Amino acid sequence: MDHFQLKNGILHAEDVPLPSIAQDVGTPVYVYSRATLERHAKVFRDALSGLKDPHIAFAVKSNPNLAVLKVLARMGYGADVVSGGELTRALRAGMKPEDIVFSGVGKTHAELLQGLEAGIGQFNIESEEEGYELAAISRRQGNTAACALRVNPDVDARTHEKISTGKRENKFGVPLDQAKEIYARLAGEVGIEMRGVAVHIGSQLGDLEPLETAFGKVGELIAELRAAGCKVTHADLGGGLGVPYKAGERLPSPAQYGAMVARVTKGWDVRLVFEPGRVIAGNAGVLLTRVVRVKRGITHPFVVVDAAMNDLARPAMYGAWHDFEAVEPGSQRMTAHIVGPICETGDTFATDRNCDALKAGDLAVFRTAGAYGATMASSYNSRGFVAEVLVDGDRHAVVADRIPAAEIMDAERVPEWLA
Ligand code: LLP
Repeated sequence: MDHFQLKNGILHAEDVPLPSIAQDVGTPVYVYSRATLERHAKVFRDALSGLKDPHIAFAVKSNPNLAVLKVLARMGYGADVVSGGELTRALRAGMKPEDIVFSGVGKTHAELLQGLEAGIGQFNIESEEEGYELAAISRRQGNTAACALRVNPDVDARTHEKISTGKRENKFGVPLDQAKEIYARLAGEVGIEMRGVAVHIGSQLGDLEPLETAFGKVGELIAELRAAGCKVTHADLGGGLGVPYKAGERLPSPAQYGAMVARVTKGWDVRLVFEPGRVIAGNAGVLLTRVVRVKRGITHPFVVVDAAMNDLARPAMYGAWHDFEAVEPGSQRMTAHIVGPICETGDTFATDRNCDALKAGDLAVFRTAGAYGATMASSYNSRGFVAEVLVDGDRHAVVADRIPAAEIMDAERVPEWLA
């Protein structure tokens, strides 16, 4: 359930009509709903109520906007970060350092140091090499960093190959069959405390079975580690739960996910950590856009909108589907290709899409754009960075300014010797 609904024939975000946001802020613009974010955060937490004291760390990569993070911090969420920049954001949004988990295969020396100095709760170590490096830095500080070892369970998440992370050939984690030895060796290092195991097999999972298989393997590893005398007090089960992108699409619910986790992890005797992203933010945002013009095509017309692949990359990158709806739909429908203005054919949001009839100047939205939307934006074609708005009941606020191309250019220099 989300709070983007038609009221008197006009699409609203909570109680705010989207045309008034377009008028205020211009288009394209991402619009988020506070009530929807909070609802999803609560539904996910409630789904885990059968577990003892789970820790939920929002995957900041899915939507790093400070206001969005603040909403989740107020809900008691921590953060899963993958860069120094994300760590800075989480802290600035008021997330407690001890509630922050640091994932990622390429944490630099500077980022490891930043995490240590911030006193974050857990490093998810992705290789033995990273473990030694962190231990060395931490020792020098007289510190002890809490760590989980991320394992690669070699499970096919059956999602888009670009967002699948748990297969043997993927770069993430250490191979499961080497995990016990690596964990034991790292456990002997001064400067780090190996306290658990982490796993994340991919994103937008439409099926719980691969997750269950991966978690089962983690359970076996925990038993083996304990039998070998290693201490295991935490298990981080990552994120990955999919969301419906098409009206009427059925996916496993958070409640079904929570029940599966409770069943599989029974008797593990660890504190479970979760890193949900999309399931919290995905349906809490839309990308509001205006039709520039409708152009005749050979088979179908092209609806050219003022949003492009630089604002919402998912269709171009993953062939992803986003529902596309008029903000003030009439009774007419049309079949069209929905495209942006960028000069490549990849800048196509949808082909042969049956949608509300639209004409130049009309407003429309791409739904389910709250996760991996604005955060993946670029300034390709010198289009500037898209703005973001947060709605709360009948009020709204710009939570990220539009950054015009001219401002981006201000950071560029022409060297003297070219002048
Ligand atoms: N934890 C780790 C270690 C991750 O790598 C990810 C996502 C998450 C948690 C959160 O996963 P979620 O609950 O959101 O599925 N840009 C792509 C998605 C990339 C996901 C990367 N990792 C897209 O637009 O579909």
